[in-house]
Amino acid sequence: MISGEVPLGADVLMRPVTLDDAAALARAHRRNRAHLEPWDPERPAAFYTVQGQTDRIRGQLEEAGAGRSAHWVLVDGGEVVGHTALSNIVLGPVRCANLGYWIDAEYLGRGLASGAAAAACEAADRQLGLHRVEAGTLLHNVASQRVLTKCGFKEYGLAPGFLYINGAWRDHRLFQRILNDRPA
Ligand SMILES: CC(C)(COP(=O)(O)OP(=O)(O)OC[C@H]1O[C@@H](n2cnc3c(N)ncnc32)[C@H](O)[C@@H]1OP(=O)(O)O)[C@@H](O)C(=O)NCCC(=O)NCCS
Repeated sequence: MISGEVPLGADVLMRPVTLDDAAALARAHRRNRAHLEPWDPERPAAFYTVQGQTDRIRGQLEEAGAGRSAHWVLVDGGEVVGHTALSNIVLGPVRCANLGYWIDAEYLGRGLASGAAAAACEAADRQLGLHRVEAGTLLHNVASQRVLTKCGFKEYGLAPGFLYINGAWRDHRLFQRILNDRPA
């Protein structure tokens, strides 16, 4: 489980998602539909509703309770303006998670994704005891690649047909950050 709030700039706070965020998340996804569609898997209509987000958060909280993922929202007052997650957490000799994030179209270029990625890596290291965080980006997602390299990630490969995004299996550039050398 993760805890704590991280201020990201003057107005925006990063904190663990709760069921109370469902309505604001549904609003954020409706506002950002065109902005996020090129980078996301296909979303069903329910994804943009309060009920759909409530179900999704419930699943995320269950997963977090089992130590398999961690999800944060970035909030400005009552509105969600971004999201960060560590998913597919695997322990044993792997001790790794996959990092994902998005930022509201009106909040781009303020360092929010960079701050969120750094805070998620800090939690992966200090709170979850992981060794490594990985992330994959579409080949042309220069903004995300910059977020990762700024945060200390190194590119380690290219995965053909890695994820089904925006209607097709897409090649991805793979990045990882080694957090520490503690024994597993
Ligand atoms: C990728 C994304 C999260 C970046 O969010 P952001 O908050 O604007 O990022 P930051 O402000 O932290 O910027 C990080 C760096 O990327 C650079 N950058 C941002 N957008 C860029 C672009 N379109 N082209 C080139 N560089 C870009 C910034 O200049 C900054 O680098 P710098 O500090 O050297 O100037 C945001 O564009 C987004 O939500 N995209 C859609 C979803 C997505 O792609 N998620 C990731 C999937 S792998």
